[in-house]
Amino acid sequence: MPLVPMKQILDEAAKKGYGVPHFNVNNMEQAQAIMRSADAVSSPVIMAASRGALKYTDLVFIKHLMLACIEKYPKLPVSMHLDHGNNLDSVKTAISLGFTSVMLDGSLKEDGKTPTTFEENVSVTRSAVEYAHKFGVTVEGELGTLGGIEDGVGSGQVHVTDPGQVKEFLERTGVDALAVAIGTSHGAYKFKIKPDPDKNLLAMDIIRKIHALAPNLHMVMHGSSSVPQELLQIINKYGGKIPPTYGVPLWAIKEGIAAGVRKVNVDTDLRLASTGAIRKVLFENPEKFDPRDYLGPARDAMAAVVKERFEAFGSAGHAFDYAPTTLEEMKKFY
Ligand code: G3H
Ligand code: 13P
Ligand code: ZN
Repeated sequence: MPLVPMKQILDEAAKKGYGVPHFNVNNMEQAQAIMRSADAVSSPVIMAASRGALKYTDLVFIKHLMLACIEKYPKLPVSMHLDHGNNLDSVKTAISLGFTSVMLDGSLKEDGKTPTTFEENVSVTRSAVEYAHKFGVTVEGELGTLGGIEDGVGSGQVHVTDPGQVKEFLERTGVDALAVAIGTSHGAYKFKIKPDPDKNLLAMDIIRKIHALAPNLHMVMHGSSSVPQELLQIINKYGGKIPPTYGVPLWAIKEGIAAGVRKVNVDTDLRLASTGAIRKVLFENPEKFDPRDYLGPARDAMAAVVKERFEAFGSAGHAFDYAPTTLEEMKKFY
């Protein structure tokens, strides 16, 4: 199966009412962990590279890493997605590498920190859509800003999405998917106290309002790592120092999916899983120095989280529900 446009993966998810995890990828072990678990549970895959990942891997390595995934698992639908593109150039670079989906995060200026005006967001997002759709490539935009700052990316302030702006944004930009800000944030430090299922953790009313206004829109929840307490305990038990913190529980994500969220972005949880596993091996075996001795367990720990997410979000079992669409077919559609 060739790489598929992300729009197809999300369209199919919408038909059956499930969510698809988006996993960030920076290295081979992460890519292998994602594909191994996708294969084990028959899930479609959204594999994402941030601008940081593109820089870290020097572009060509991430491209071939993703191509290796489809060569090794030719039957699984896989979408190769740019996470938080900050300008048209980043979109062009990703498409030149063969990505089948791009995010242009026009909620922030090119510096990835300063919030834009609605008009600025529309203008830059529209330019990305005009460019990407000529190649049949899916485009995700963002309205509202998340909290948290990862690697210098993010305004650090939450501006929840205004449902009143959504229809105009969709009409004027033509995006295929929209990231909405409902109170999540990037990174490990999302909530200081344990989320209570009886209290409103996230602004689910915004998701419901947007879904009512635009029922065909694929909403995206960024900052959706769950920050499992057991992973923090492993890290801290073996020499780490992560202060108490909580993520977005799976019950809150499931609520979002039931209300119309189709893509759920997860990065931090795989970072926590791999770090814990590496710390444990090195702590228990200080004589070891072969990277395979700790990167292998890191890969296993990430694969376990990935499998749990495919199952929890409901994409498990849906990899073979549909025949793949090509970018050529998508070009005609647009
Ligand atoms: O949205 C942020 C993702 O977690 C990517 O993080 O920019 O550190 O690669 P990164
Ligand atoms: P987390 O930091 O919660 O994993 O969010 C990742 C993300 O939103 C990538 O775009
Ligand atoms: Zn994000």
